[in-house]
Amino acid sequence: MKKKFVFATNNPHKLEEVKAILAGKAEIVSLKDIGCYEELPETADTLEGNALMKARFVNRHYQVDCFADDTGLEVEALGGAPGVHSARYADEEGHDAEANIRKLLRELAGKDNRKARFRTVFALILNGKEHLFEGSVAGEILTTRRGTAGFGYDSVFLPKGYTQTFAEMGENLKNQISHRAIAVNKLCHLLQSI
Ligand code: IMP
Repeated sequence: MKKKFVFATNNPHKLEEVKAILAGKAEIVSLKDIGCYEELPETADTLEGNALMKARFVNRHYQVDCFADDTGLEVEALGGAPGVHSARYADEEGHDAEANIRKLLRELAGKDNRKARFRTVFALILNGKEHLFEGSVAGEILTTRRGTAGFGYDSVFLPKGYTQTFAEMGENLKNQISHRAIAVNKLCHLLQSI
């Protein structure tokens, strides 16, 4: 029988991506499915800390096997920013993806080095034991948005070795090569080994 996990995220895009990546391998249940409508705590200053904080919250309050992720866009010329602050990068201008992208393009204006990477950390709590998995994908930040699929910073992120942004390639290819796919596949290996 397939193992069942709660994916502790309030982001419907992430939920769909992870369900697609794990299709046939594990059954994924959402926070709504277990009646959790709360804002999850994520006040740590690292991706690892935030992923663990979210997973521990759901595990302790709902007594379920679960995993959570935290993701950051790390831009070389900005010293790794926005990093763990990626979701609230442009908070003073608006808490949404468009405002975040606007600020990112402004900060990078005139800079030749546009190298960046997405890094994600998944924290899994299974039978009371904690496991961490990391995935990252290198690429560059374009000067303008391209594509309409995906979410967040997808339309300005061109993964290395590809000619389409995450937002142009669509979910099938993104789910094979993304930071999230890499981390979730590692998680899958653990599941298969137990
Ligand atoms: P969090 O992990 O939900 O805190 O995400 C941090 C920020 O990165 C948010 O602004 C997300 O929209 C963005 N983000 C997370 N994953 C992705 C992705 O796969 N593509 C583009 N943006 C992402």
